[in-house]
Formats: sequence, C-alpha cells, structure tokens
Amino acid sequence: MIVAKTIREVREHVAQWKREGYTVGLVPTMGYLHEGHASLVDRARKTCGKVVASDFVNPTQFGPNEDLEAYPRDFSRDCALLEEHGCDLVFYPSVEEMYAPNAATYVEILSEMPKQLCGKTRPIHFRGVCTVVSKLFNIVQPDYAFFGQKDAQQLAIIRRIARDLSYGIEIIGCPIVREADGLAKSSRNTYLSPAERQAALVLSKAVFLGQEMVEKGIRDAKELLAAMTAVITAEPQARIDYVSAVDGETMQPVEEVRDGVLVAMAVYIGKTRLIDNFIVGGVR
Ligand code: PAF
Repeated sequence: MIVAKTIREVREHVAQWKREGYTVGLVPTMGYLHEGHASLVDRARKTCGKVVASDFVNPTQFGPNEDLEAYPRDFSRDCALLEEHGCDLVFYPSVEEMYAPNAATYVEILSEMPKQLCGKTRPIHFRGVCTVVSKLFNIVQPDYAFFGQKDAQQLAIIRRIARDLSYGIEIIGCPIVREADGLAKSSRNTYLSPAERQAALVLSKAVFLGQEMVEKGIRDAKELLAAMTAVITAEPQARIDYVSAVDGETMQPVEEVRDGVLVAMAVYIGKTRLIDNFIVGGVR
C-alpha cells in the first residue's frame, strides 16, 4: 500500500491509474479505524479498480470545546487494517498540507439541512465536513466515494454537495456495523469506561425497539419517539441530545414515519456523545 503525505503524490498516482483505465474509489476517514471503516474499504474494493483511503483528523469540523486534541489516533494500526482489506493508497496529510495558514474558503449548504439534528449542538461541524470532503474530492477525483450510514446526516449532506456542485462522483452509503451486543462501532467508543460501555447499549436498544414498532405498523412519529426516549431515559448515565424522526433527504422533522424517514439520536454517555439511527425501509 502506498502512503502518500502530499496532495501532489496522490494526484500523480491517481492520474497514472486513470491513464491505465482503473476506476477509483475514495473512503474518507479520520483514522482510528474499526470494522465499520473496514466494511467501507471492502465495499470500495468490490466496486472499484483502485481504492484510496484518507486518514486525517479534520480540525475544521470540531467546535472549540470538542474533542479535537483527544480524538484517538494510531496510524500504524490504521495502515495494517487498510492493507489487510486491500486498500491501494492511504492519504495521510498534515494539517498544513490540507489547510494553508490563511485558508478562508468553506463549502457550506445554505439550507436548514445542516442545522437540524447534530447541527443544533455542533453549529460549524457540517461546514467543516463539507469543506474537507470537497477538498478530498478535488484532490483524489474519485469515481465513487463511500460513507457510513451511521453518520446519516453527514451522508445526506455529502450526497447534496456532490449533486449541487456537480462532482460527478457516485456516493455510496454503507450499513451500520455493530458490536455483537448491538453497540454501533465508533472510534469514540474507546472513550467509554466499562460501566459507560454497558450504559451505551441504550442507543441500540432504542433503535431496535423503533425498528420493531415500525415493522408492526406504527406510523405516528410522536408515539415512536416517546417509546424510544423512554428506553434511553431509563439509563441514569444517559443524557439525550436529540431523538428525532426526519425526512431522510431534507432532515426536516416528520409526523408520519414512512419509507425513507431517518430516525436518529445523539446521546451523551458520561462525557461521550454517541449517535445511532435507522432508515425506514433500509439504506438507499
Ligand atoms: O466521517 C468522518 O470520519 C469524517 O466526518 C469525514 C467524512 C472523514 C470528514 O472528515
């Protein structure tokens, strides 16, 4: 696997592959990889001739009081996982390589979409995500890009910028990967103490309950969210940021839970903010 630390190196390798007729898939990550990321690389491996992953903790998507400094990092472990799953190139830039000291250009969706759900408590988050993902799209120029459904709002937002800015890149959403007991895989799970790890199961329990209720035909969002909320509030270590049912494309709240509706939550377990969700009718 090639390790590229500069934009120039990435461009040279990708240009060569394109001359040779390969399709290129991009898996953007912030590192500290787990089986969720591995599933994205596997999907890219099946879909594309060449697979590029990026490993970059993007400072512009963290708010001033968030966990940028504490965010876990282990590049050699990441490389081992990427190589094992058949990644061809990992882009591992420094902050200076990605952002000039006077960088002042951002990509931002000017609608309600990034202000809902996670955007309510993380007001600059999606502007940072859109900016870094746009930069990665410009640097790698992939044919396909792969994102996890766990960050469902992020996935919807990236689909939107890819469309609005005519990137010509096919955005592929991949299902949530869970631990055996249901907890959605996340790099932030490493912050949890053993007791918090146990408490964190309320997120997946609420998701599974929500899915069961929908399968039984319950369509009233209020009823669904009340039952899911009750599961979470029964856990003393859990503090709800939001539990919401929204249109899967616009992120606007809905009253009726139909196919394509995103039922999503963010919950603090101690100081760790975790997210989980399901899409009615499955990932599209
Ligand atoms: O989902 C993530 O890990 C990040 O938000 C992304 C898409 C790699 C951008 O930094």
